[in-house]
Amino acid sequence: MLKNKGNFFVLETAHTSMLIRAGETRAEYLYYGDKIGDFTGTELLEAEEEACGLSLFSPWGGTDFREPSILVRSAEGGAACDFRLKSARIAKRECAEELPCSYGEEKCVRLEYFDGVQKLKLILQLTAYADCDAVCVNASLVNAGKKPVYLERFASVQAEVWGKDFSLITYDGGWASERQRHAHKLDLGKCENASFTGTSSNRHNPFVMLAREGEAYGVNLVYSGNHREAAEADDSGRTRLIAGINPFSFSWELNAGETFHAPEGVLVYGKSEEEVSLRMRRFVSRHIVRGKWKEKERPVLVNNWEGTYFDFTRERILDIAKKAAEAGAELFVLDDGWFGKRDSDRCSLGDWVDYAQKTGGIESLADEIRAMGLKFGIWVEPEMISEDSDLYRKHPEYAMKIPKREPVRMRYQLMLNLADPQVQGYVFRAVSRVITATKAEYVKWDHNRMMTDCFDKNTRGGEYYHRYILGLYSVFRKLVERFPKVLFEGCASGGDRFDLGILSYMPQIWTSDNTDARDRIRIQAGTAAAYPQSTMGAHVSAVPNHQTGNRNSLEARFLVACGGLLGYESDLTKATEEELSAIKKQIAFYKEHRMLLQFGEYHALGDAFGGEWAGYLTVSEDKSSAFAVVIVSEYRLGRSNVRAKFAGLDEKAYYRVSLRSPSGDWKEVCTAYGELLVKGSVSLGGIFGDTNVAENSNPVFPRAYLFEKCAAPKKKQS
Ligand code: GLA
Repeated sequence: MLKNKGNFFVLETAHTSMLIRAGETRAEYLYYGDKIGDFTGTELLEAEEEACGLSLFSPWGGTDFREPSILVRSAEGGAACDFRLKSARIAKRECAEELPCSYGEEKCVRLEYFDGVQKLKLILQLTAYADCDAVCVNASLVNAGKKPVYLERFASVQAEVWGKDFSLITYDGGWASERQRHAHKLDLGKCENASFTGTSSNRHNPFVMLAREGEAYGVNLVYSGNHREAAEADDSGRTRLIAGINPFSFSWELNAGETFHAPEGVLVYGKSEEEVSLRMRRFVSRHIVRGKWKEKERPVLVNNWEGTYFDFTRERILDIAKKAAEAGAELFVLDDGWFGKRDSDRCSLGDWVDYAQKTGGIESLADEIRAMGLKFGIWVEPEMISEDSDLYRKHPEYAMKIPKREPVRMRYQLMLNLADPQVQGYVFRAVSRVITATKAEYVKWDHNRMMTDCFDKNTRGGEYYHRYILGLYSVFRKLVERFPKVLFEGCASGGDRFDLGILSYMPQIWTSDNTDARDRIRIQAGTAAAYPQSTMGAHVSAVPNHQTGNRNSLEARFLVACGGLLGYESDLTKATEEELSAIKKQIAFYKEHRMLLQFGEYHALGDAFGGEWAGYLTVSEDKSSAFAVVIVSEYRLGRSNVRAKFAGLDEKAYYRVSLRSPSGDWKEVCTAYGELLVKGSVSLGGIFGDTNVAENSNPVFPRAYLFEKCAAPKKKQS
């Protein structure tokens, strides 16, 4: 809810308040934190000197020598800006057409500023999402002058808070080790989190937090390209956090009359990191994911990639699909290798036409799979081009290359120049043809390399990275408009582009190529810091694991995958009868509890980043049922003192608690009030003895619990 009294504005959500004072020439944050009932009494704060407040943005050019959020250079070369507040009001929210944007609120606090020398109008729109305690910021800059100006940085959002003892929490890693939590103590210093790969990246996710005991501020971007978050604590006792497009290799020419829109920034406050995560996930489910699949149950899939790689025939695919159908899966996904002459990763990207000798006809293959009662899904990697492809032979100019320079190849492939509208048109048409021909109900959109050799003859160099992303979004926009029922799953070598930009078009993303239960529990825990389980593709794959060589029980792999969108990724024809019947049982269980598993309120358990065990709890909306998984990764024989607090359960409710046996059966182990389960530090000890470790190497020990509300025992009459 938005309130305005005099020159005060309050953005109020269910549990937080953001108080902004619009002064004579500037606006500032007076307060952002736990909800305050009323904002009378703010005169106290008003007494403060204007210039000492907490700023909403910080243009280069004054006496604030901290990290600036805006730097605009005039045609003559000067780079100072002095934006004066011209108006502050509650207004209708306007979103940029070319960028994805959160949705669900019509009104915002609109602040308009003007720089009289450069003739620049700066507009900030702040929107409050009451139900999930998020505030979104949309910043744009209008050139109201007669000459071009050059944006060298234009961050999306700036948070500023009192205190200099915060840590910047980041989620970093690489391929197969995405989104590992790190805490960087600021200590009167600066810390940056940024990507340079052209993607939001598996190296540094755009979601970060400023956190200290008792409070945390989360920031994310609705963006899929190079980003940068910088946090600085200074001696005046303030900490600033800015987030936006990475200013590295960014310089945008803004001509007279033009507007530049920064990607949307998202702010969430909470009393702890966990609370921020909870709110952020809710925000993503309700105000980022959209269309037919929003809060809608997702199918259990079987994907052939790790089962066959490129080496398949129509018969082999049909055999796997048959097993998938028998096991109760609902969707079969034909991965890489079905097009062009694609027998290895050295060719054919760009030739999105049936490899008929291999598939025996993709359209009839899809139909045959559908006849088994499965939906049909297909893999594409449309932003790429192989030099050994008909597309490259016909249109070498479509590839992203710098003239006269040998391009960098990754996985033997080049990227397409999506900054070029002609190439965008090609990609849209090519993918549309695939979907139309196969009637695919699901599309996995992959992206398997980083961006190098950025060049387009019609694009200024400093604009390339962002124009690429705008080009990509324009293709996505048209595709989801044309195929509103298709379930799109984003993928980028696993989770190289797990961000709110992708999720605005594609409701789910393949979390990581690493499906080893030991690593996966950690990767999913880091991902869940900002993204709900309904966005995370999570598959059970074969042992030994193809990435790590590690072996874990089918049960452990399944229970970890239950923390996301369940799939199986192996050659099911090679599974034993015993394994197949276990898989069948697993899928039946998952389907029975699917709403809870995919859309329940998710709580992280334990410590995935250094603790002996980690897991998750997901609780139904009415808290009548819950499911928890605990994965002990550092179990030492003879030691059984593992304890959990199941925060998230209804403290007043009485629950029946059942424990899952390794064979997938459930046994009631106790009944207890929620309060005890939440506060009581429940022992998980002594329960690992029955796990079959005989053939495991470096195994993890899984446990799963079901909580079901039941009638409390009657109190004895005294
Ligand atoms: C990437 C994906 C995998 C698979 C392969 C196919 O690595 O992350 O899931 O689709 O590409 O080449």
